[in-house]
Amino acid sequence: MDDSFIRKLPKAELHLHLEGSFEPELMFAVARRNKVDIPFKSVKEVRAAYRFSNLQDFLDIYYRSANVLRTEEDFFDLTLAYLKRVAADGVVHAEVFFDPQTHTARGIPFNVVTDGILKALAAGETQFGITSKLILCFLRHLDEADAFVAFKQAEPYFDRLTGVGLDSSEVGHPPSNFARVFAAARAEGLKLVAHAGEEGPPEYVWEALDVLHVDRIDHGNRALEDPKLVQRLAAEQIALTVCPLSNLKLCVVKDMKAHPLRRMLELGLRATVNSDDPAFFGGYVYDNFSAVHEALELTVSETLALARNSILGSFLSGREKARHLDALNAFAAN
Ligand code: HPA
Ligand code: ZN
Repeated sequence: MDDSFIRKLPKAELHLHLEGSFEPELMFAVARRNKVDIPFKSVKEVRAAYRFSNLQDFLDIYYRSANVLRTEEDFFDLTLAYLKRVAADGVVHAEVFFDPQTHTARGIPFNVVTDGILKALAAGETQFGITSKLILCFLRHLDEADAFVAFKQAEPYFDRLTGVGLDSSEVGHPPSNFARVFAAARAEGLKLVAHAGEEGPPEYVWEALDVLHVDRIDHGNRALEDPKLVQRLAAEQIALTVCPLSNLKLCVVKDMKAHPLRRMLELGLRATVNSDDPAFFGGYVYDNFSAVHEALELTVSETLALARNSILGSFLSGREKARHLDALNAFAAN
């Protein structure tokens, strides 16, 4: 299998934080036009600072870099740059996260953030043919009352939002803390996802399923520690949005050769490959496929299964999924 097979393979990305796609080059340009100081002199210096020993290490830098984003144009440019970049990676559909509380806490109005993103998602479909869905993530290091404020601010956008998620510092902030706001989102017909089992224990994955009633689990690595949980995830074909390079950079795995992705497929789990925060973790979705392909020596059929899972695990309609799966089968046959 050559590299162009992986690059051209039609795929969906289901775990991408827009703020995590903020490349240093764009960060400098936006900082300059907004007259915001950043504590780095060069792109090289920024990249050198991206060494993390755990999730919190990364989050500290990630929230600091988001502070540069101020205007609707900034959020537009951020989002369109991501779509332009992954158009070259065979991404046909993207379901992207944003963290409005990170911005509203700094005095940036909710609509400035959301309008910029939504306009870019529309432009990305026109310019690159990539369809997309937007998922609002609640920050779990803040309390549920704060999540409810964001949820209320989102109300005028419910028809343009696909779902809600849960991200930020996992350990010590179990999904059950957000039971009521997730129930309210569910009552509005929004889809539900949550980061669980990245650093947190299998119990957090159980809570995401049984208390929040999520449709997908983001990461889910530590679910493998609990055979009953694996059975449940496999039986219900709950998609896991796995992020190999993120796992490596945040020391969730010691070595890519030790990554559990193949084991997940062997256990019958609907695992997918995603980039999480590509500007910080050293690669976009192609680089993630490529890294696991090389380290785990994945076969063509395993690689195709990962792309198929990305379509099946998406929030596209049954008809749209069928259309993408047909295209994937046609690609595989060539
Ligand atoms: N985990 C939790 N929160 C996040 C992440 C992540 O990998 N990326 C951005 N916010
Ligand atoms: Zn994430």
